[in-house]
Amino acid sequence: MSNTSLFFRTLLANPRMVGAIAPSGAMLANLITSEVDPSAGPVLELGPGTGVFTEALLARGVCEKDLMLVEHAANFASMLRERFPAARVISADAARLEACDLPEGMLFGCAISGLPLLNMSPKTVVAILTGTLSRLRQGGALYQFTYGVRCPVPYRLLDRFGFKATLHGQVLRNFPPARVYKIVRRRPFGHAATGR
Ligand SMILES: C[S@@+](CC[C@H](N)C(=O)[O-])C[C@H]1O[C@@H](n2cnc3c(N)ncnc32)[C@H](O)[C@@H]1O
Repeated sequence: MSNTSLFFRTLLANPRMVGAIAPSGAMLANLITSEVDPSAGPVLELGPGTGVFTEALLARGVCEKDLMLVEHAANFASMLRERFPAARVISADAARLEACDLPEGMLFGCAISGLPLLNMSPKTVVAILTGTLSRLRQGGALYQFTYGVRCPVPYRLLDRFGFKATLHGQVLRNFPPARVYKIVRRRPFGHAATGR
């Protein structure tokens, strides 16, 4: 089955989880990976789907063996294993990274996310951000795309949990047009949130 057929089949079976009407285009893949430094360490990709961003990461010089792909849909995960045999593909929920059996102490240079955060509860979004950002090296960021006109993480959550989001760019020539946000930690983990 082609990547596109697999995408639409999975979309029909679980529209909320896929959260997109088509795979991302090359311009969006280019933007979301534009700051990836292959020498900064392994890269974590969340919700790779059919692997559009994965291909862009490889084109930027990231070694396939330095890719950790976390994909909830079992059929996407099987296809990713075939397409990227040297990458580590984990068929799991990105909100439960602690259950993913990642190597102890392993830190990533950055994370790229195609997850449909707008379809998720605030609790799930916080679990994804906390789990991901705590596994990034100093200076690492999470790059997240959205079809919305603002950051898919509500500002009250960013503020409360000590995250900072900036607009990294937008691609009008994507279907639908999309924005990419760069999310970092404002303060190290362990500093208490205000509990508002
Ligand atoms: C909007 S699609 C993006 C796919 C691909 N990155 C692209 O841009 O074409 C969202 C992807 O996230 C996956 N996904 C959704 N919820 C997830 C979760 N909790 N954990 C891991 N993957 C998830 C879906 O199965 C799907 O592959």
